[in-house]
Amino acid sequence: MGAANSLLYGDVPCRLLVPGLRAEDITAAHTGLFRFDMETPTSEQHRWSIQVPRDPEFPDDIDDGVNRKTGHGGLDQKIFLHYRPDLWELLAERHIELELWQSEWLAACGRIWQACTAALEELVREMDRTLGRFGLVDRLGNAPDNHCLRVLKYAPRTGSLASGHYDRCGITFRIAESHSGFYTRHGWEQQVQPAPQTPEVSCFTGEQLERITEGAVPRLWHGAVDTTEGVAERWAIVFFGKFRPK
Ligand SMILES: [Fe+2]
Repeated sequence: MGAANSLLYGDVPCRLLVPGLRAEDITAAHTGLFRFDMETPTSEQHRWSIQVPRDPEFPDDIDDGVNRKTGHGGLDQKIFLHYRPDLWELLAERHIELELWQSEWLAACGRIWQACTAALEELVREMDRTLGRFGLVDRLGNAPDNHCLRVLKYAPRTGSLASGHYDRCGITFRIAESHSGFYTRHGWEQQVQPAPQTPEVSCFTGEQLERITEGAVPRLWHGAVDTTEGVAERWAIVFFGKFRPK
């Protein structure tokens, strides 16, 4: 069964080929984040935290650039990059001069973003052919570019890294991860999912698509747990495909 049908029939997550998705770019994307975390001075890092309202549906979703989330005790829980194509302008407007490695890092993220956006459009076109009444292609919000590439790194710890949740977006591509730990829940059953094999991604559905399709395409419950006894840093790369709200 093709990915479009899998999504429509709730057989998620499913594999999707993303032409142009390259292992070198994936490596550059996560090593760039590690380098940013280690080498960029803290005062400079703060300037990369950019707050731009993107979506009238989620006015609190203002986390472009690089942001940190802290957990219990004020310790860093995770650091993540949100890449959209206008990140270059947002950084330039703040008079942030990119070092060469930072430019190469963002360029790699841009290529991943482009490949995922093209594959998403193809996937959604196919979904429309099967289930035409929702006009999904017309709802893909490309102006401004709203799809978001997230590169994230968790501080090592045991137990839950991301508690179970549904994604807000329409369709999520899980692109790559350092090691296993991503799980989904189907009914009562929780399953740790195998890593995607580049150039394939693992895709699943979020709240926005469930709402647009009036429940016909259900969202998928998922989360991430540590599988390394708290030893290893976990990184992951994810693409959030977004539709225009009604
Ligand atoms: Fe998620």
